[in-house]
Order: sequence, then C-alpha cells, then structure tokens
Amino acid sequence: MKKTLTIITLLAAVISAAAQPVGRELWNDGWSFTKDGSTRTVNLPHDWGVEGEFNQEYPGETGKLPWWGKARYGKTLEVTQEDLQKDIRLEVDGAMSNASVFVNGVKAGGWAYGYSSLAVDLTGRLQEGKNRIEIVLDNKPESSRWYPGGGIYRNVWITKTEKTSVAHWGTFITTQLAPGKAIVYQKVTLKAPETCIARISTRILYKEGNTEYVVAETRSVIEAWDGRTEVQDFEIVNPRLWSPENPQMYLARTVVETEDTKDVYETPFGIRSAEFRPDGFYLNGVKTFLKGVCLHHDAGALGAAWNEDAWQRRLIMLKDMGCNAIRMSHNPPAPELLDMCDRMGFLVMDELTDTWTVPKKENGYATLFNEWVEKDLTAMIRRDRNHPSVILWSIGNECGEQGWPERWDIPRRLTDLCHREDPTRLTTAGNDNPGAAFSGYAETIDVYGFNYKPHLYEQFVEEHPGQPVLGSETSSCISTRGYYLFPVEDDKGKGWTMDPPFQVSSYDLYAPGWASKPDYEWEYEDKVPECAGEFVWTGYDYLGEPTPFNMAPSRSSYFGIIDLAGFPKDRFWLYQSRWCPDKPVAHILPHWTWPGREGIATPVHVYTSGDEAELFLNGKSLGRKKKDGYRIVWDKVFYTPGTLEVVCYKNGREWARDMVQTAGKAAKLYASVDYEGEDLSYVAVDVLDKAGVLCPGSSALIKFEVKGPAEIVATDAGDPTSHVPFYSPELPAFAGKASVIIRRTGKGPVTVLASSKGLKKAKISL
Ligand code: GAL
Repeated sequence: MKKTLTIITLLAAVISAAAQPVGRELWNDGWSFTKDGSTRTVNLPHDWGVEGEFNQEYPGETGKLPWWGKARYGKTLEVTQEDLQKDIRLEVDGAMSNASVFVNGVKAGGWAYGYSSLAVDLTGRLQEGKNRIEIVLDNKPESSRWYPGGGIYRNVWITKTEKTSVAHWGTFITTQLAPGKAIVYQKVTLKAPETCIARISTRILYKEGNTEYVVAETRSVIEAWDGRTEVQDFEIVNPRLWSPENPQMYLARTVVETEDTKDVYETPFGIRSAEFRPDGFYLNGVKTFLKGVCLHHDAGALGAAWNEDAWQRRLIMLKDMGCNAIRMSHNPPAPELLDMCDRMGFLVMDELTDTWTVPKKENGYATLFNEWVEKDLTAMIRRDRNHPSVILWSIGNECGEQGWPERWDIPRRLTDLCHREDPTRLTTAGNDNPGAAFSGYAETIDVYGFNYKPHLYEQFVEEHPGQPVLGSETSSCISTRGYYLFPVEDDKGKGWTMDPPFQVSSYDLYAPGWASKPDYEWEYEDKVPECAGEFVWTGYDYLGEPTPFNMAPSRSSYFGIIDLAGFPKDRFWLYQSRWCPDKPVAHILPHWTWPGREGIATPVHVYTSGDEAELFLNGKSLGRKKKDGYRIVWDKVFYTPGTLEVVCYKNGREWARDMVQTAGKAAKLYASVDYEGEDLSYVAVDVLDKAGVLCPGSSALIKFEVKGPAEIVATDAGDPTSHVPFYSPELPAFAGKASVIIRRTGKGPVTVLASSKGLKKAKISL
C-alpha cells in the first residue's frame, strides 16, 4: 500500500563542498575535552549536552539537558617548514558558545555567537613541530529559548593556502539569465602580502558522474594586492538551470598563480534566477509557491552535533512530503546543510538571529547585538551567498523593535548591510506584531514575513501593493504521534489537558493561542494568491520548547510534522496531500485499536490529494463524501474492532487507498532500515501483533544490540516526555515504535538486534 516512505540512500554527492580552497582539511578527530574537572578524548562535531541526562529541575524550554558551562578543547597541530611558507587558518563552523582560540597559550581570536562560522589566522603564530591549539567555551545559561547544545558541534578545518591566493570566503558568483544562455560573474577577492603580478584563471565546470566538462573559462593577469577584487565573467550557452526539481550544480575552479606559487579555490554554484515580485516568488521566471518548513539546528537524539547522514535522512523525508523550502530558524545553519539544500533542491531562508536589542533571554543575543551584529551578518552572507538554494536573508525573528519606531534604524541598517554584501537577494524577517505590518516598519525589510497572521495577508497586499509577502512562520499545530483525545473538538485549545500523559491529540486541530491548525492558514493562502509561500513551524520536533507543557516532564517539542525520532505524525500526509497534488495520497486517522470504545463515536479524518472518498468499516460503506476544505471527516463512526478502509477518488476515478486495522496482543518486533549511510544508519522497530498489525498503544521495553563493526550512538522513540537518556540502548517503544542510530566503525556486515520480553525478536542486517 501507500505509506512506504521512500527513504533511500542518495548516491555520493556530485559536487558537494562549500566554496573553499583546495588545501583545506577536516580537523575533527582526537581532541582532548575538559569539562567539570575531567578530561577525555572526543571526535568533533561534539555536543556535550546530549551526553547528559534529562533532569526535571532543568528548564523544559531548553530541553532539560545540561548544555551550559565552561569547557576546553585542545589538539596538537604539527607544522612543517614547508607549511610555514604558507598561510594557515583554523576554521570552526560552530562552537557553542563564546569561543576563545589560543595558539601555544596565546589568545589568537574567538567568536561569541555560537551559530556563526569563525576563522582564526594562525599565520605567524606557529612554530615548526608541535603547536597546541585550544578552544575555550563559555556557554551561558539563560541564553536561548530552545536547546542550543554545547561544544564544538560543527566541523573544524585547517586551511593552508599560498600567501597570494583567494581570500577567505573570497568569491562571489552571481548569474544572469538571457534567452538560451547565462552570464556568470565571479567577483574574486585576493589576499597578498605585497603587491605582485598574479594570474587568475577560472574554469566553469559541469560534472556528470566522475567526468568534468569545462563549459567556460577565462584568465586575467593583474596587479594583486591584499583585498584587491577582480570580476570575471563567463557566457554559458544552454545552461542547465538549478531548481528544486533539477538541482543542477556547476563549479568554478579558480587558480591564482604568481611567479612561484599556485593556489586553487573552488566555488560550487547554480545558475538560476530567484525573484520576489509583488504577486509571489518566481524561480527561473516560473511562479513557485514556497512549500516550506522551519527547522531548528538540532537533529533529535544527536543534539546539535552536525551529522551529514542525520540531515540527509531528514531532508529526504521532507522532499517526500513535497516540501521545497526551509527556513533556518533562527540562526545560520551548518554550511554543509546548505550544500545539501543545493544538491537536493531546497529553497532556503537563511536567518541571522532571534533577537536584536530587546532581550528574550537574560544572556541571549541582545547582549551581543551591538558589538557583533555586523560581524555575524557579514559572516553569514559571505559564507552563504554562493548557494543557489539561498533565496532570502532573514535579519531576525519576532524582534521586539517591530513596535518601536525609534529603533527601526536597526532593521534598516541590517537590510542595507545585506544589500551591500549581496545586491542580488532581498531581506525578510519573521514578524508577529500585527500593528507593525501597517505602521511603516514593513518598509524596513524587502519581503514581509508574517508569523501566524494569515488573516492579514489580504490587507497587507492592499496597503503595500508593491511589496512581496509570505508566511515566515505558519500553523504551529501541536500533536503527539499516535495519541488521540476524545471527544474530538475542533477548537484549538481542546487537544490536551494539563495532566499526564502530557501529550497532544493528533487530530491536527490543536495549537497554542497565537497559532492554528494547518487548514486555517491554507484558507488564506488560497484567498490571497500574492502570498509567496509558507514556512510551517516546524518540519521536525526539536529539543526544548515543549509548548504547552513547559513545566511538565516534557523535554522536546510537539510542533513537528515529524517526531523527534523521525517518525511521521498524521500531519505528514496532510501536508503531502496539499503539496503533492499529483501524488496519490490517502491517510486515515486515528489508528483503529480502541478497546473499551465499542459503540462510541470515534471521528475519522482522511487526508487525500483526491477530491472524494468512501469509508468502509468491516466492508460496510459509511458513505462517500466530497472534500470540502482540506480533509474529509466522518464524525459519527461508531467504533467496532476490525478494518477501516478508505477509497479516495480524483475526478471520479479511484486514486488512492488506506487502511487501519485493530491490533491484537503484541507478539513480535519488526525491524526495518530507515536510512543507511556511510557513517550513520537508522533502524526502526515496530511492535506488531501476530498478524503483523502495529500495536499503537505498545510501550514495550526494547533492547537494541549490534553485532559487527558498529556501535549504538543513540536511541529515541519520539516521546516528548521521555527522560531515558539518548545514549541508552534500551528504551520503551512509543506508540508502538522505536528507533536506533548506529555508527559504522569498520567494513563488514553489521546486524542490529531488537528484543523485548515476551516478544519475538527482530534482526536486520545493514
Ligand atoms: C514563534 C517563534 C518560534 C517558536 C514558535 C512556537 O512565535 O518565532 O521560535 O517559538 O513561536 O509556536
């Protein structure tokens, strides 16, 4: 039937890396890590927060994990005589937070904001032989509204370049489409210790498999000095345009030569036009609705630590749902996530911060704003401006200054800075203050972003006929996978109670006060075709912000369309039914195992991309209904155990089906490989009855083991209230499912075993 989520392992990326010199190497392994008086060796990316235990005393808002504190990372850098002839740079893509970098005991640099990529020039600070690099962090409590993580949680690099070469983040590629061709401009910024003659040769490459084709090249001989820029242009005939459907990448390989040196710098890019017009967003001239989700930077049980496989798995699921856009809320992402968006085809809103000067947390970004904002924004743009996926710079989220005209110089200044650094993209911000939209504040940014105000789209379009508008944050529907509360009321506050089990009903009707069910947002999107798109809060559940249970045991959010362990909630198919109109989608909720509800009305909702559906209970029709709105509802289905099946139609023809069945007693475990990567793999386990039906109420205690060259990294079942540490190999299933993350430690067969008392074991090979 439907619902086999197509989770496949993508082939190795054709062109994957970010803009960078060729002499750049990962420097992640074997760091000493000292915190709270004890020292051990860790490999980066590393987040010490998720290694800890959940504690009810800790704030639920930030995940109930111990992510704050001071720590020191250290590693020895071996330097040769030959290296000393070069420039050497340490690059850290994210350290949480307040990093100070020491070289042989002397402070050489640092960066406060944990989400920015930082670079420290080590040139002149190193000696031949061993050099000690230390990174000291001071991660302050009360600095975040969500789980920030703690540690050097992204990649670290050592970059060696010739003295005369492309500067750090020193290329900027823009493209212009014309009939049958594209003009590509590359602005190169050089570094050079002294004025000299340099030859800059650039080839534009296109790769197919392992073969590189040169599609254009140019060469300039110039007088080079530190900071000098040179613009090269190229004409590309019949370019292959980048789009979410066909994310075609090109590569600019730039060689800088002097009399006796040669240095190579590579910049992946895409050829596309991305334009916000007053009536919507246009990609390559075609109106394209942004079917977006907001994402936080954590990857569930792995915490904030960047992992390629974890994120690839996430993006594959989002693609399958029909999502084509991601808002990096509320901070710059790992650069590799943007590479992934480039090559998998997602449009990105790249966002700077959750606050300007009006604080949301005592030690939050407001304390850094005055000193750092220009540096952080410049770093974000220079690092990310070559990604074809990036279509908007978001300068902030729900900043208090919206309603404070005396402070509107801030968004004006940030917008100007974005335009200065990148004249090709517009700015936006997530705005929640309804008055601000009509007060003059709207003009301080280019594309107006509404957080949860779809009812204002129309008025905005009327009052700002020239200004593009979108839903920067939408819905914030809350739900728990597999949990349903009766009676079902279509009233957003009636999906939970403030008592155990602290879960939210999954009828997808419930939301906090400022938010709404998805259907409400869609009514306005459909009424106002000028709205360029939406970014649903959120694609995945995340650590922290367990609204509405901020005081309960809850440690992770209920906002996700997909839960923290990566299992889709019902809403996955609601979004899929809207975002993939040509894909046959049918989904029934709730599950059909309700001992004790016999004869009681149990509303059935169907999500379909069809336009009509007929529901059958144990073979008997409960009527055929036309879709009126975004879902088809049968309120009076009197529960009888057995089989509930829906047949959906489109234009009068059968289109898609789904079925749920009553489960008997749990009898066995069933394992499946959700995702298999070179580093991490995800295995899911279902608790089934003897006929193979999922037992949706099962919380059987499941124990995972691995045989072969692999280790268990983490487990999770997506229960927002669970306090089982992520490192535990044993955990209760949640709503009949659990997931384990395995890391390969060598070559050879790996077997994952799952067992639970009284149930038949499951075994699967990677
Ligand atoms: C918004 C905010 C998000 C998140 C969300 C939850 O107001 O921008 O960061 O807190 O609410 O609904």
